Amino acid sequence: MSVRLIVPADLNPLRDPQDRRLPRIAGPCSIVIFGVTGDLSRKKLMPAVYDLANRGLLPPGFSLVGFARRDWAHQDFAQIVHDAVKEHARTPFREEVWGQLSEGFRFVPGDFSDDDAFENLRRTIDELDEVRGTGGNHAFYLSIPPRFFPDVIGQLKQHELAEAEGEAWRRVVVEKPFGHDLTSARELNDVISQVFPPEAVFRIDHYLGKETVQNILAFRFANSMFEPVWNANYVDHVQITMAEDIGIGGRAGYYDGIGAARDVIQNHLLQLMALIAMEDPISFDAKSLRSEKQKVLAAVALPEDLGRHTARGQYAAGWAGGVKVGGYLDEKDISSTSKTETYAAIRLEVGTRRWGGVPFYLRTGKRLGRRVTEVAVQFKRAPHLPFTHTQTEDLGHNALVMRIQPDEGTTMRFGAKVPGTAMEIRDVNMDFAYGGAFVESSPEAYERLILDVLLGDPPLFPQHEEVELSWQILDPIMEYWAQQGQPEAYPSGTWGPQSAWDMLVRDGRTWRRP
Ligand code: BG6
Repeated sequence: MSVRLIVPADLNPLRDPQDRRLPRIAGPCSIVIFGVTGDLSRKKLMPAVYDLANRGLLPPGFSLVGFARRDWAHQDFAQIVHDAVKEHARTPFREEVWGQLSEGFRFVPGDFSDDDAFENLRRTIDELDEVRGTGGNHAFYLSIPPRFFPDVIGQLKQHELAEAEGEAWRRVVVEKPFGHDLTSARELNDVISQVFPPEAVFRIDHYLGKETVQNILAFRFANSMFEPVWNANYVDHVQITMAEDIGIGGRAGYYDGIGAARDVIQNHLLQLMALIAMEDPISFDAKSLRSEKQKVLAAVALPEDLGRHTARGQYAAGWAGGVKVGGYLDEKDISSTSKTETYAAIRLEVGTRRWGGVPFYLRTGKRLGRRVTEVAVQFKRAPHLPFTHTQTEDLGHNALVMRIQPDEGTTMRFGAKVPGTAMEIRDVNMDFAYGGAFVESSPEAYERLILDVLLGDPPLFPQHEEVELSWQILDPIMEYWAQQGQPEAYPSGTWGPQSAWDMLVRDGRTWRRP
C-alpha cells in the first residue's frame, strides 16, 4: 500500500522559494474596485484580472467586487466584466477560467457618501470570506478622482473595512493623479495615512509595471559593458520621449486643467529618468530601490531660465492616422479659451558627480506623429577622430535607445565603414528586439502590478516621498507656465511646437525623430 503525503507548497522543504520556476501565486483574497464603470477599469483592470486568472496566478476563490452608482445586480456587473475581458484581455478567452472567476463577482450599488452602501460592502466582504474563502484579505482599488478619496477612505474606516484581524490584510491601491501639486499631494497623503499604514498603500505608476521599464534595471545592473560609460565623461545628454498619436478622447473632465506635464512628466517620465540615473541599489527590495530613486529626484536641478529651457504646446487641427482631426479647443467639453498644454518639454540636470552637466530632456505630447516611448542616451563624440571631415560626414553621435513601447527592444547606434575602396563612415544600428529574443509575450503592466498588490510586494510602487519630490520638481515650472499666455499651437500629427525644437537648438542639439 502506498501513502501519498500532501504538503502545502510553502511547507514543502524540497521547494526553494528562490526557484524561479515556481509561479508567484496570490493567496486567498479579493479586490474591490471603486470607479468600476470608468475607462481604466474596463480597459485595463478587468482584463488584467482575467489574464492573471488565465495564467493560473489567482487563488481559486479569488473575488472581484465592483462598487459604483449604478442600479446593477451581480449578473449585470458580470456582463460588463465579460464584455471588457472579451474586448481587451491579452490572453485567449477560456470558458472554464471565466466560469470559475465569475462565481466570485459581486456588485455593490451606491455612492461614496452612502452609509448603507458601505454597510452592504462590509456584508459582501464577510460573505466572500465565508463562501469563497477570501480569508479577510481585501484590496481596495481607488480608480476615482482624488476629490473623492476623503469620502471613500473615511467610509472604509468608519465601516471597519480598513483593518483586518490577525494575519489577514487590507490594502489600498491609489491611481494617479496623486494631487495636482505638492500641497494637494500632501493633503491626499494625510487623508490616506490617517487610515492606512504606509506598507498598506500601493500607489500606481503603471510605467513601472512595464517589462521594458523593469528591463532598465537589468540592462544597467546585470551587465558590465555599459556601466563604465554611464556618466558625464561619456554621455552628452539623455532624451526621454513619451509620444501619443491619440488626442484626449472622452477624458476632458480629467485632462483639462491637468495637462501633459502633470499627467505624464510628474510620474512616468521622472520615474524613467530616476531609473536611468540612479546608482546601483544594494538589493532590489523596495527600500533600497526607492531610496536610490529618491536620491536622483532630490538631486534634480531646474534650469534658471525656464523660458528658454522648457516648452509647451496645444494640438491644433491636423491629421491623425490619415484622418483629418480637430484641435484641442474643438474637443467636447473643452472651453475655447483653455490654456491646458497637451505637449510639454523640459530640461533637467541631476546634480551628482556621475551626471554633473548632462542635460536630461523630457518630452511628452498627445496627437504627435506616432505612439512611441523611448529613452535615448546620446554619447559624446570620440575626443579625436583620425579621419578627414568628409570621411565622417555621415557619422552622428553614438547612441543607445531603449524602446519602451511599441516595438520593444534596444538599439545601439555607432559608426561603421561603408563597404568600398574609400574610407567612409556611416551610422548603423545593432538591434535587440523582444519579439526576436524571447518566445514569451510580455504581460500587461496592470497584470504585474495587480499581482504585486495581492502578494504585498512593494518595489514597483513609488512611496509618498517620491511623489513629493516629483511635485517639487514640477511645481515651479507649472507656476511659470501659468503666468504665460496660451500654449503654442502645433498641428496634430507633427512632433510638437516650434518652441520645443528651438529649445534644443539653443543647446546645439536636436530632438530625435523616434
Ligand atoms: C496615463 C495617462 O497615465 O498614461 C494617459 O494618464 C496616457 O494620458 C497613458 O494616455 C499612456 O499609457 P501607455 O501605457 O499607453 O503609454
